[in-house]
Amino acid sequence: MNSVLSIDDLSEDLEQILQWAITMKSDDEIAADFFPLMNMSIGSIYEKPSTRTRVSFEVGINKLGGNSLTLLKGDIQLGKSETIADTARVLSRYLDAMTYRCYSHSDVAELANNSKVPVINALSDKHHPCQAAADLMTIIEKKGMEKLKIAWVGDGNNVLHDLMLAASIFGFDITWAVPKGYEPDSEVVNRSEIIAEKTGSKLIETNDPVDAVKNADVIYTDVFVSMGEEHLDNKMNDFSGFQVNEELVSKAKEDYIFMHCLPAHRGEEVTDYVMDSKNSVVFDQAENRMWSQMSILTYLVNRPAWETYSQLLEINY
Ligand code: CP
Ligand code: NVA
Repeated sequence: MNSVLSIDDLSEDLEQILQWAITMKSDDEIAADFFPLMNMSIGSIYEKPSTRTRVSFEVGINKLGGNSLTLLKGDIQLGKSETIADTARVLSRYLDAMTYRCYSHSDVAELANNSKVPVINALSDKHHPCQAAADLMTIIEKKGMEKLKIAWVGDGNNVLHDLMLAASIFGFDITWAVPKGYEPDSEVVNRSEIIAEKTGSKLIETNDPVDAVKNADVIYTDVFVSMGEEHLDNKMNDFSGFQVNEELVSKAKEDYIFMHCLPAHRGEEVTDYVMDSKNSVVFDQAENRMWSQMSILTYLVNRPAWETYSQLLEINY
């Protein structure tokens, strides 16, 4: 049983997982032909709200012939008194895989440690692997696999953590501009650096957004205040100068792409000008959540089908 708590749990086969996602997207019939999740049930537990993750998992599971159950924490015993470990032991008897969106990363790790079926982290305070899979799929679609510079401007948060790990796996350079005190988790940076040593990625931290976006192929931002941080009243004030706006993007390459995991807080971390510009790929990125998760689920719960796909890819590419 393989769980996906962060994107580096998929590092070995990530490129093929994303190539298969790109193939499915280009030919909807392929997924329908295979139905690799036929007779399988996938349960998704949510402690926090979600638009993209919830809908893209539900629709993607349907497209693959599986049955999707959405379990809101307030509606199941987990939200009352049952432990995470017991919930994992029980749900493993019914389900073929689970996804879990939670506050504390240790909770999704506990679910995975006690589950007999694969658990996918659908966002925790530390990691958002499904987002990074869609992000890299989008970058590959738009820019190819040549060496690229990714610039992150904003908070050193869960989305940056998996983007940095994924960029390192693919050998892309990434510079993150964060205000002092909002640096990414040093354990994740260390893990990324170990991967980067093998792939040749350059990982750079700065406090200057202009430094980060200079010559960038990709500019990425996320909300300054993540879910669960709403009580940090003054956090917003520390991000003045970190908005991605017309002036900042003028320092990037002319054909840069703008990315955001969404939901965006227009007027805070990004302006309408950038969100709605021709460089913005945010809605393609949101769509890619579905295709990349379909490929990840197949990889986790029906490896023979996924291996057949890989052979098809080898013939076609
Ligand atoms: N990007 C993302 O995870 O969006 P949702 O919170 O809507 O799922
Ligand atoms: N960093 C954000 C991402 C939302 C998809 C959060 O955790 O709320």
